[in-house]
Amino acid sequence: MEALPRVYVTRLIPRAGMDLLRGCAQVKVWEGELPPPREVLMAEVRAAEGLLSLLTDQIDAELMDAAAQLRVISNYAIGYDNIDVPAATERGIMVCHTPGILTDTTADFAFTLLACVGRRVVEAVRYVREGKWKTWGPMLCLGHDLYGATLGLIGLGRIGSAVAKRASGFQMRVLYYDVERIPALENELGLVYTDLDSLLEHSDFVSLHTPLTAETYHLIGAPQLKLMKKTAILVNTSRGAVIDEQALYEALVSGEIAGAGLDVTDPEPIDADDPLLQLDNCVVVPHIASASVAARTLMATLAAENLVAGLQGRMPRNPVNPEVLDLRRPR
Ligand code: DGY
Repeated sequence: MEALPRVYVTRLIPRAGMDLLRGCAQVKVWEGELPPPREVLMAEVRAAEGLLSLLTDQIDAELMDAAAQLRVISNYAIGYDNIDVPAATERGIMVCHTPGILTDTTADFAFTLLACVGRRVVEAVRYVREGKWKTWGPMLCLGHDLYGATLGLIGLGRIGSAVAKRASGFQMRVLYYDVERIPALENELGLVYTDLDSLLEHSDFVSLHTPLTAETYHLIGAPQLKLMKKTAILVNTSRGAVIDEQALYEALVSGEIAGAGLDVTDPEPIDADDPLLQLDNCVVVPHIASASVAARTLMATLAAENLVAGLQGRMPRNPVNPEVLDLRRPR
């Protein structure tokens, strides 16, 4: 009987995924709360044929070169900017990710942040906890309505369009910008396509849904923030580096925009002394947009299934570089 393939998992993931892996592979897991240190990861991948990685692991060419047996990297995330995919492809290593199953959970959370910043929920909670609530006040914690406002979506992939669907319940007018126009969704959801500048100028709320690539790095910087309304709110559930955070800080302090909600920062975690954390008009949470029990369980199962399929020579459900399987087939 052939030995089961060796798999390294860089953090404990929900049990459904771990059980699935343990049924098909010899599994070693880093059980620490923090990601495995680089030297541990480098040593552990040496013997691994499969790697189940998290977005906190830097999977680069050096690591792949240390991993002579590695055939599949399955990322427990939809984003895979932590992996050097061209380097993996060059080495015949398949990369997979977990799209689709966290769409609604993440879209719910983008909306949560829009409402939370728009209606100043965090400030209001702090106000009560600090014993400042003495009476109902006509001017107390006045925020911005979502209802009837204009929402600008930057990126109209799965998550962006799920946010657009939610916006219709708030009777929002939805503008979107993406590298490609999607007329079918424009018709179905009543969206208006604009260029980026015009979206920034006309939106009351702006929500980011792009992957992090060389093109989207600091897509929102000082010039873009200057275009936004002084009453506008910016929300990011994509990747921190899509925003130039220094420019964001200046825009929030000078009143160029009204508020920001950040699920993601650059770097992660944000430094506890970061000046953004001192601002009442900025809400920062620790990258939890997909953090529901259901979504994380589905992510675990899918990441494990993708890994097992790749190791068994089958096409995984969500390959990032499917060409690798063809390259491996004998001609
Ligand atoms: C992802 O999957 O890329 C999210 O950022 C975390 O779930």
